[in-house]
Amino acid sequence: MQQIRRQIKEKLAQGGVESPGNTSLILLEHAIQQSKSWILSHSEYEPSPQETKTLQTNVTRLLEGFPLPYLLGCWDFYGRKFSVTPEVLIPRPETELLIEQALQFGGKMDAPRIIDVGTGSGVIAVTLAAELPAAQVWATDLSGPALRLARHNAHHHGQTGVHFVLSDLLAPLSGPFDLVCANLPYIPRNVLAGLDVSRWEPTLALDGGDSGLDLITRLLKQAQTRLTTQGAILLETDSSLGIETLAAAQAAFPDAQHRLIQDLAGQDRIVVIDLR
Ligand SMILES: C[S@@+](CC[C@H](N)C(=O)[O-])C[C@H]1O[C@@H](n2cnc3c(N)ncnc32)[C@H](O)[C@@H]1O
Repeated sequence: MQQIRRQIKEKLAQGGVESPGNTSLILLEHAIQQSKSWILSHSEYEPSPQETKTLQTNVTRLLEGFPLPYLLGCWDFYGRKFSVTPEVLIPRPETELLIEQALQFGGKMDAPRIIDVGTGSGVIAVTLAAELPAAQVWATDLSGPALRLARHNAHHHGQTGVHFVLSDLLAPLSGPFDLVCANLPYIPRNVLAGLDVSRWEPTLALDGGDSGLDLITRLLKQAQTRLTTQGAILLETDSSLGIETLAAAQAAFPDAQHRLIQDLAGQDRIVVIDLR
């Protein structure tokens, strides 16, 4: 197996795949259905013809650019494993920053009413429901397949109380909510066409309209009548649109406090609107 792993690692490195050593191990783990530690301690194991075929197919797909999370069918977010398919956005580590902010708000309330707008695989809604057991959590999406997957993820993590709603942003919901969380599509349409992500991830999850802020601006308007007086909104945004998102937040909620938070890479990422 050591030799196969070396060969895979070399191919991935030549093809410019990130972290070829770890990725080769993940591919073996997936094909052989054994843990990384088992693989590392069984160098004498010879993969079966079927396992070898799976490995070859997956290496080829990765070299074509197909994302590893879609290949594996799952991805980690905030310490939990979530099923992912090409019908939803792959959860990003930046979004964990939104979770941290949400926990700061929600953790101070007795039974917060929280909504995740544009839930995709459900990572935000399910994580908040799991971390804040007293919360009531809603999640919306315009995509039926995304909602089905999000519901599956909620059940997998024992969060059967999350209310999933097929809707355009907050349209059919009157709230009021204590916390509105949203990682909506925010890539400007003319930028999106040139990005590699547009080859694999759903356009509905990426396309933020001409300005990049079309959905965020619409959400802010809807949220004006759906927040409690002590409520808050957390918005993930594109690193190039932090200032514009902050300005849109100030225009929609002039009496609130606003903050722009940077991610670990130092990029503008989260806008906080705090009504307290
Ligand atoms: C950037 S993805 C985020 C997915 C997930 N919340 C995450 O953080 O990984 C945006 C999601 O918003 C959904 N969406 C797009 N337009 C929408 C709309 N008008 N109303 C509700 N959801 C929408 C997409 O289907 C997609 O699942």
